[in-house]
Amino acid sequence: MNHRKNVLIAAALLVSIAVIGIVAGRCAPSAPKGRRGGVGVSDLAVASQAVYVPPGDLDTYYLFASGGHSGQIYIYGIPSMRHLGTIPVFTPYPATGYGFDDDSKAMLGNMSWGDVHHPALSETNGDYDGRWLFVNEMGGRIARIDLRDFKVKQIFGPMANVSGNHASAFVTPNSDYVFGASRFSIPVAKGTVAPIEQYATVYKGIISAVKIDKATGTMSQGFQILMPPFDFDLADAGKQASDGWVFFSSYNTERATGKLETTASQRDRDYIAAVNWKAAEAALAKGAGDVIGGVKVLDPKKVPGIVYLMPCGKSPHGVDVSPDGKYIIGSGKLQGVTTAFNFEKLQTAINAKNFTGDEDGIPVVKYEAIKDAEVPVGLGPLHTQFGPDGYAYTSLFVDSAIAKWKLGTWQVVDKIPMSYSIGHLTAAEGDTVSPDGKYLVGLNKLSHGRHLSVGPSQPESSQLVDISEEKMKLLMDAFTEPEPHYAQIIKADKIKPIEVYPKEENKHPLAIWDVKDAGITRQGGKALVKVVLVRSTITPTVIEVNQGETVTIALTNIEQTTDELHGFGLLDYNFNIVVDPGETKTVTFVASKPGVFPYYCTNFCSALHQEMQGYLIVKPKA
Ligand code: CUA
Repeated sequence: MNHRKNVLIAAALLVSIAVIGIVAGRCAPSAPKGRRGGVGVSDLAVASQAVYVPPGDLDTYYLFASGGHSGQIYIYGIPSMRHLGTIPVFTPYPATGYGFDDDSKAMLGNMSWGDVHHPALSETNGDYDGRWLFVNEMGGRIARIDLRDFKVKQIFGPMANVSGNHASAFVTPNSDYVFGASRFSIPVAKGTVAPIEQYATVYKGIISAVKIDKATGTMSQGFQILMPPFDFDLADAGKQASDGWVFFSSYNTERATGKLETTASQRDRDYIAAVNWKAAEAALAKGAGDVIGGVKVLDPKKVPGIVYLMPCGKSPHGVDVSPDGKYIIGSGKLQGVTTAFNFEKLQTAINAKNFTGDEDGIPVVKYEAIKDAEVPVGLGPLHTQFGPDGYAYTSLFVDSAIAKWKLGTWQVVDKIPMSYSIGHLTAAEGDTVSPDGKYLVGLNKLSHGRHLSVGPSQPESSQLVDISEEKMKLLMDAFTEPEPHYAQIIKADKIKPIEVYPKEENKHPLAIWDVKDAGITRQGGKALVKVVLVRSTITPTVIEVNQGETVTIALTNIEQTTDELHGFGLLDYNFNIVVDPGETKTVTFVASKPGVFPYYCTNFCSALHQEMQGYLIVKPKA
């Protein structure tokens, strides 16, 4: 691409952004009006039937949406788009008592938020298996949610060397690894200081492979790969034909600093990094790698054959592998086309050393040798999902639309507008080797005028689209709090949640199941209070401790009935413990403040819920 053509494209793009701005401004009424945008009454009748889940009936899919800097995951039912629950992950959440009891507080450490980006369901043979949901946050942590009880079981990290863990979490087809990569390059190891003038040479990007124990889901640090200081953005693991590889999009391959919106947009192309993780494993087994920050790090300069760079339109966002693994879809987010790269051609080019140069010893593969097609999807392609029938769906941020196109023929067959400015999109099991089709959800960045106004802090909009027929159909709008960067949709029958913790599985050393075992014991100057929660008493009803004592209160909810949660709220000491049926939780504190402090059950549990209360008496020092 020559310079003049670039300038023309950039100018055209600016004009279209300006036009869209004007149009969006115009169609953003301050008060809600009927805004059907050409949708007729009979279409609405069809759409409302399609999303209507009658009382007592259940949705057929779960949607897990990233909660962005809320630090949480939101659960929606599809097709109703009803919000079914919130899973607190990196942020304390009083509604479920998360971050208040000893265990969840320890898991969060001293952090009170995380910027959640990309949820990734665990996979077996490239298909969602309904076991775990992994999700990253920018601070270099990855959490594992157990889908048996929808609770966080592990927060791994912050990972060594990784700064700004944006290109994460991405799971391999048999859940061998969950991958992450750095958005912000820094001098490694973490804590090292180098002047910003040395950015291009001393600052490094890191790709991080986190090992998953296939039996338990437990994460541990695998290996890392030292990369040039590009900003890694998103990823997708290879599957079927490309199993064993993982692909990362990157921008700022200029290695620029300062005002990136201009300094990082000088080149025509950035890169998709193609990582052969099985080759990396083999190299490690032969002893390759240096320990940096306590982690085995492979330097591609010393270990050839593990990473190649695929030139891609400038500033790509998503990189997405087709269900058969043959195509890698990536695009510059300021372009009007998306590129379908051919995995087989990539292998041929690598074997023939069809390279145009290198970046810090990593070969750059010739673009023309690996591209199959440039698909004219429209302006601002961000992210692609797949259907069961060879169709791909690409979100278009600048056009504010979704394009449907065919793999292989590269024909764009349909487009549907989104309100407004779609970022990511997610299709039913659209990341797997066997997508379901039926539904697709656009995750839009703007929502003004689509709902009752709630002031300047506007919700984000999600739009449900029917993709079961040739023409896409908009079914409904739904809203979330900030900010659904990404989501995944799984068939409901793949998840088998429990609703009580079976008594026989509770191995907590402080669990008790009979009110006669409740009470206080002391050892080594510490007080241990064992408490039973059951309708409609907190036993004991009085807890007496001495000022200055370290106290552990262990609460067991001995109910074995669905929905019978009890809480332990004690405002003066900031306790908010919620205990599910069959569960035991502890809260440990120093009784520093003397006085009489009521505690009570916070979860409405019975007609006598209001009677479920007691007193903590902290006797003052003599
Ligand atoms: Cu127990 Cu309310």
